[in-house]
Amino acid sequence: MLKRIAVLISGGGTNLQAVIDACESKRVPGQVVGVISNKADAYGLKRADNHLISSHVISRSNYPDKKERTKALIKSLESMKPDLIVLAGFLEILQPEFIRAFSDKIINIHPSLIPKYAGKGYYGMKVHEAVIKAGEAFSGATVHFVDEHVDTGQIIIQESLRVASDETPESLQKRVLNIEHKILIESINKCLRSEV
Ligand code: GRF
Repeated sequence: MLKRIAVLISGGGTNLQAVIDACESKRVPGQVVGVISNKADAYGLKRADNHLISSHVISRSNYPDKKERTKALIKSLESMKPDLIVLAGFLEILQPEFIRAFSDKIINIHPSLIPKYAGKGYYGMKVHEAVIKAGEAFSGATVHFVDEHVDTGQIIIQESLRVASDETPESLQKRVLNIEHKILIESINKCLRSEV
């Protein structure tokens, strides 16, 4: 029986695409049963449509009240009956009520070697800019369980790369994204096979 994976996005959705492709090519014993975005213009929604995967937008514009937005998020996810929830570039801080509703079933992909360059304010390009500015020799990506704090849950997989001497934030983002796609699939498999 294929495991049910729900994916939350806010942007381009290349991590979502990696999950969809891995499921369709049977590299993951699962299926993406739904996509939720907090941005109506997220390109990831188009990716879901391309694969006939149902998607929902739960954003500040259609749910201005945070508590109502959290309730709508929980309701939408419960209807998907997910075995695993993947935050793939989802840029909203989740409320404790949400975490409790799906505890130990939520994983997140972050573009740094947590605990470095993680937590409030560290997301997307900001992470890579900070790594370059600090002159770090290494960077990478981390997949971790989501707990009630930001980027602090149990680490599932982490993989590093050497920062090149002529690295720019843009080049680093591209190289880290390749690692993200790889370790996200490896982490999903560990979770679905209860190896974590
Ligand atoms: C990735 O860098 C991820 O680590 C971060 O947001 C970005 C999402 O990229 N959380 P994409 O939308 O999956 O292409």
